[in-house]
Amino acid sequence: MKGTPLTEEIYEYIVQHFALDERALLGRMSARAEKAGIPMIMIGEDQAKFIAFFLRAIGAKRVLDVGTLFGYSAAIMARSVGDSGEVVSLEYSELHAKVAKDNLAQEGIKNVSVEVGPALEAMKRMPGNTFDFILIDADKPNYINYLREALRLIRNGGVIAGDNAIAWGKVAQQVEPDDPDYASVTAIQAFNEEFAREKKLFGIIIPIGDGMAMGVVQK
Ligand SMILES: C[S@@+](CC[C@H](N)C(=O)[O-])C[C@H]1O[C@@H](n2cnc3c(N)ncnc32)[C@H](O)[C@@H]1O
Repeated sequence: MKGTPLTEEIYEYIVQHFALDERALLGRMSARAEKAGIPMIMIGEDQAKFIAFFLRAIGAKRVLDVGTLFGYSAAIMARSVGDSGEVVSLEYSELHAKVAKDNLAQEGIKNVSVEVGPALEAMKRMPGNTFDFILIDADKPNYINYLREALRLIRNGGVIAGDNAIAWGKVAQQVEPDDPDYASVTAIQAFNEEFAREKKLFGIIIPIGDGMAMGVVQK
């Protein structure tokens, strides 16, 4: 293998040097969410900083966040696009959406709209070619469907990202149907295969967090 596996010690080094703001924001937002019983399944602090860096690098102004949870990825991206930019965040759970809206308000973040309902239906109602960046991070069995809609919604030259592309370390395995992660792992495997095959995408999996598939779209 080329490269160096990430250890806890190295992760901590990276956060201490580069992601303390992201850690502080996560601390505040997750504390409010934990009280509401929301699971801690958000992106990591290093991923947050990477996305913040990346959105600045491409000058993103309009971002779609598929899967809000308590609003962490939305908040990170809202701060990255600046006051003249906007984030549309899609969430199925009314509780998650409510806590996310409260969290964003408490953080003084005004440029996120959280839409409640099934993300795929919401995406299908949107006009094409308007987003600079789309983060897919909701229910895994719909990942392929989100990817297909994202390809329509993203502008030419924009970037689509899918979290959990390493599928909790199981992406390269043949999982058995009795594995509790079977549905999610096989859905991610199918998503990655379509992501890699899709002619309009120039992509790679970045091994950060649980892996992020990222591809620039050439329409
Ligand atoms: C992994 S979390 C998102 C984490 C968030 N991106 C972050 O890093 O802060 C996935 C979220 O997707 C939501 N979700 C699941 N199925 C959905 C659906 N069909 N439509 C919209 N949201 C859905 C879940 O309720 C959950 O809040």
